Amino acid sequence: MTRILGIESSCDETAAAVVADGREILSSVVASQIEIHRKYGGVVPELASREHLRQIVPVVREALAQAGMKLGEVDAIGVTEGPGLVGALLVGITYAKTLAAALGKPLVPVNHLAGHVHAVFLEAYKAGRAANLPAVCLIVSGGHTVLYEVKAGEANGQDAGRLLRYRKIGQTRDDAAGEAYDKVAKLLGLGYPGGPILDRLAAVSSGASRPVKFGPTKTRGNPLDFSFSGLKTAVLYHVREHAEYSGEIRTREQALERGERKFENLLPLCSPQTLALVREFQNAVVRDLLERTMMAAEELAVGSVLVSGGVAANSQLRATFEERGKSSGIEVFFPSRALSTDNAAMIAAAAFERFRAGVFGDASLNADPSLALA
Ligand code: KG4
Ligand code: ZN
Repeated sequence: MTRILGIESSCDETAAAVVADGREILSSVVASQIEIHRKYGGVVPELASREHLRQIVPVVREALAQAGMKLGEVDAIGVTEGPGLVGALLVGITYAKTLAAALGKPLVPVNHLAGHVHAVFLEAYKAGRAANLPAVCLIVSGGHTVLYEVKAGEANGQDAGRLLRYRKIGQTRDDAAGEAYDKVAKLLGLGYPGGPILDRLAAVSSGASRPVKFGPTKTRGNPLDFSFSGLKTAVLYHVREHAEYSGEIRTREQALERGERKFENLLPLCSPQTLALVREFQNAVVRDLLERTMMAAEELAVGSVLVSGGVAANSQLRATFEERGKSSGIEVFFPSRALSTDNAAMIAAAAFERFRAGVFGDASLNADPSLALA
């Protein structure tokens, strides 16, 4: 059995996990920085780095304790190399390099996006399912909205040496879907992060009234590319043009200032019109993610679609993809909500594949904020 310690610090979560043979999660610890960034309405890179420095040692200790292991029992250390915030990545990388050198264990650099793909495999394994390759994978979070074709690597004599191959087939031209959620929540006075609260509010609206209709977003050129900044701007203009929103937005902002930011606090402060607006926004985002992903799956004639990243926690997105999967005969795979958002179990799982193939890093390993997945 190979037990890999995974370390993730690419954005605003300090995470560590131990995963056995790339499949079995022995522990997974995530320290979220949401409370720190909330008042700024987004992640502040400098504050994120400082908080990672504070959290990295206790988080790794906790992951080992929960796995019932000592540091010396770890077989390798997997760490996120990129993409992400450079100062944030450097905290995890520097710590992982130091541990690897001190313990004399292999260091395995991992692409954060490969981690999100492996989160799907971890979940499928738990459920006794197999995601057949080739597959189309949608990674949709606060930082990314990107479509990949995922294939098994070339056989080089033995299965253990195979690495997955990724081909980027579509990406956002502007904002990531999660970023659109966060910006729309902010302009509606619904706090940060926006995804979870908008998800719940959208479900409350009956859909009977439609204050606004958002058409499909257009991206010239590659039909598999996404664009969400126009939709966010359309929400902004709609709100500006209708004076009746401004009073309730101010009321909610005051509630947020008092720390009343829960769904139960904010729901009574939302008019039916606001709930319907949130619903229309979410319908537009989900429809766009679904249609382009399924278009890719059909064009490439793949049997599986994988969806991962923070926005994959969205209830309507999950239900809609599952429904379409059933009606079109394409198997759809999601990680659990905990594995959808940033975590280190997915990094340890992705590291196992590279460990078996002998892909290691050394003391020269550096953060790569725009590392491509290939
Ligand atoms: O993957 P993640 O934890 O961090 C990034 O790599 O960005 O994703 C966080 C993003 C945020 O933008 C958040 O608003 C969004 O995922 N999110 C959701 C939901 N839960 C989190 N978006 C829609 N619906 C949700 N339920
Ligand atoms: Zn992520």
